[in-house]
Amino acid sequence: MAGALLLLLPFLFPSLFTPFSHALPSVFSEWNAPKPRHSRLLKSALQRQTPDEQLADLWRPLAEQQWKRCARSDSMSSLPEKSQGYIQVFLDGGLNQQRMGICDAVAVAKILNATLIIPHLEVNPVWQDSSTFMDIFDVDHFINVLKDDISIVRELPDEYFWSTREYYATAIRATRIKTAPVHASANWYIENVSPVLQSYGIAAIAPFSHRLAFDNMPEDIQRLRCKVNFQALVFVPHIRALGDALVTRLRYPPSTSEVDGTSYLRQVSDSKDKQGTGKFVVLHLRFDKDMAAHSACDFGGGKAEKLALAKYRQVIWQGRVLNSQFTDEELRSRGRCPLTPEEIGLLLAALGFDNSTRLYLASHKVYGGEARISTLRSLFPLMEDKKSLASSEERAQIKGKASLLAAVDYYVSMHSDIFISASPGNMHNAVVGHRTYENKKTIRPSMTLLGQLFLNKNLTWPEFQDAVVEGHKNRQGQLRLRKPQQSIYTYPAPDCMCNS
Ligand SMILES: *[C@@H]1O[C@H](CO)[C@@H](O)[C@H](O)[C@H]1NC(C)=O
Ligand SMILES: *[C@@H]1O[C@H](CO)[C@@H](O)[C@H](O)[C@H]1NC(C)=O
Ligand SMILES: *[C@@H]1O[C@H](CO)[C@@H](O)[C@H](O)[C@H]1NC(C)=O
Repeated sequence: MAGALLLLLPFLFPSLFTPFSHALPSVFSEWNAPKPRHSRLLKSALQRQTPDEQLADLWRPLAEQQWKRCARSDSMSSLPEKSQGYIQVFLDGGLNQQRMGICDAVAVAKILNATLIIPHLEVNPVWQDSSTFMDIFDVDHFINVLKDDISIVRELPDEYFWSTREYYATAIRATRIKTAPVHASANWYIENVSPVLQSYGIAAIAPFSHRLAFDNMPEDIQRLRCKVNFQALVFVPHIRALGDALVTRLRYPPSTSEVDGTSYLRQVSDSKDKQGTGKFVVLHLRFDKDMAAHSACDFGGGKAEKLALAKYRQVIWQGRVLNSQFTDEELRSRGRCPLTPEEIGLLLAALGFDNSTRLYLASHKVYGGEARISTLRSLFPLMEDKKSLASSEERAQIKGKASLLAAVDYYVSMHSDIFISASPGNMHNAVVGHRTYENKKTIRPSMTLLGQLFLNKNLTWPEFQDAVVEGHKNRQGQLRLRKPQQSIYTYPAPDCMCNS
């Protein structure tokens, strides 16, 4: 009985295990500490030393590429003489999904020659953050940057005061557009929404996420979407200020500025002065219970973890996600298992990042908490996050607000020398796209290669290292052109960039 209770513990009290918390380091480990799974590689990795030449390569910014952000601002478009009415959208999802929704909303309003009402951000059932557009984004900047392209108003005009979320939630309403297909064309909006605007002067589109196609769009509409994403959307000043403070602390950690001035210490630190001083890597790590459970892979937490994840799958997806028709080995060799913090650490170490690398962990929560992170921390002792770098007073304004926390991570990610994302998803796509636009280095882990390498338990560290370096040569920010159906926000070239 006691045993059964112990096994159910993580399920009954899932929140105990979710936060990336230094306060509860021992809870998971007393129960069942996930042990390093690749201890042979780990042992060598802990003793690694990277030749200066390799370090220099690693930290060198990307060379200019054929596609760049365009020099001229595209103002071939102009405001319509007369607005055709008001467009209202309600956006669900987390911060980064909403971001894409905002860009698409501007585009749809433009297609319809309409005025956009500042989008309403829905409260996501998982993230539970009620922050509004204006709490997250600098609304004055937003309106100002787009003033020659489209009219935007902050609030519902008085005559349409009734057109609220509650109004649409309680009955079928003529002004609500409920049937926009996924990736709808510009014509779909003209045919289906223009008449509503003509009759009522307002149209509320919900759901709206992913409701505008990426292909066969007029060029000026594509450019406008990118202008919104890369120029008009900036975070509110207090998020930028906190982000700047974090970036400064990462670049100039107190310990090195303390030794400044003392010539002896300075010499010592100079002799140790490495490539990468004053630089930092952001690691976006999404390894939460949801993702772990969904993948159906084995993460080394033993029987207790397997049961907990199987139970989670059953309750959350009620049989829609099967326990898995594939073995762990099959899933791994296909690159279908999220990388654990340990595996990411080995990847970074093999690429050449040494233990003086400053690593910022952009992460909401890690399944298993500190117990799971400790291996990564042993490889990268200078690992930081929002909590370790900022005081609680500094964090007071963003505390418990998932969108604002994500905004700070996004900001720091954009300002890092190197960004690496271990987890596919909206944040990954948004930052990778934005960094492509600004030609900043981004390492994309090859999940298939790593899955296969980690399966081979005989691999020596040099063999692992060679395979990793070779397999990631062309995954460090080399520009990839968008293919049909892919998102312009993830692949901004060619639509949003200029060929030099
Ligand atoms: C970093 O690695 C070097 C070389 O392996 C080792 O001597 C040193 O103790 C390590 N530093 C830390 C802080 O772990
Ligand atoms: C929008 O305005 C442009 C000219 O300003 C016009 O060519 C186009 O047909 C209008 N579209 C709609 C949907 O009203
Ligand atoms: C790993 O080593 C074992 C025992 O030394 C050997 O039997 C096996 O074939 C090796 N596997 C690979 C993939 O080299």
